[in-house]
Amino acid sequence: MNKNSIGIFDSGVGGTSIWKEINALLPNENTLYLADSKHAPYGSKGKNAIIDLSIKNTEYLLNQNCKIIVVACNTATTNAIDYLRAQYKIPFIGIEPAIKPAALQTKTNAIGILATKGTLSSALFSKTAGIFSKSVHIIEQVGEGIVDLIETGKLDSPEMRSLLKIYLNPMITANIDHLVLGCTHYPYLMPLLLDILPNHVKIIDSGEAVARQTKAILQQNNLLNTSTSLAKNRFLTNGNPETMNTLLNQKFNIEIADF
Ligand code: SIN
Repeated sequence: MNKNSIGIFDSGVGGTSIWKEINALLPNENTLYLADSKHAPYGSKGKNAIIDLSIKNTEYLLNQNCKIIVVACNTATTNAIDYLRAQYKIPFIGIEPAIKPAALQTKTNAIGILATKGTLSSALFSKTAGIFSKSVHIIEQVGEGIVDLIETGKLDSPEMRSLLKIYLNPMITANIDHLVLGCTHYPYLMPLLLDILPNHVKIIDSGEAVARQTKAILQQNNLLNTSTSLAKNRFLTNGNPETMNTLLNQKFNIEIADF
């Protein structure tokens, strides 16, 4: 048994969508969430910059004795997780767009993927998409500007609605029946997406799968916290704590940190 925290980092507030799934599945586990909002979005940065930021976040979490690190950011996973796994002994959990279930379940043979430029242009994404694009029409769309709006508290705004319509209309025209959310910020768009997309389009995100994988890896490494005492959840941000509390929907004491 190990009471050290699960470390989670993201380019900002979006990874709290992953934290919620982890906390729901593993309520005994202490967690430490790092929101690097100061450097958001990661999605428009180059690979080396994303690796450097991921190293900085990892080092911070390791200094706090985290026992496992969840890279709750698709862009950081697709660009930096191989590097992190090679450099550090601790287990890393990553998050990738769930193309496989969408490609296997589609009936219209067309699926949409909304993700950042950094994710869609990564080698890891190309490899996975390449496997399924032979049999399924995959419509990729860079969600330029979406993360910025979420990070500045404009989640449910007219700007967001018109941006989403621009991005989703070509997918609707192509008759997609699955939309894959390839960025951990995007699950927070669910009410708007449901409003804009036709009813038959299923929206897929990877949150639950990441939580299950985190539990499995903790189990395999004998790292689960089996204590029944109340877990301690810490949230650190170098951005605006209010935006984070609004998304978390609970009044946490968000700590401001310089990292
Ligand atoms: C971003 O920082 O651009 C988005 C994070 C993600 O890809 O999940």
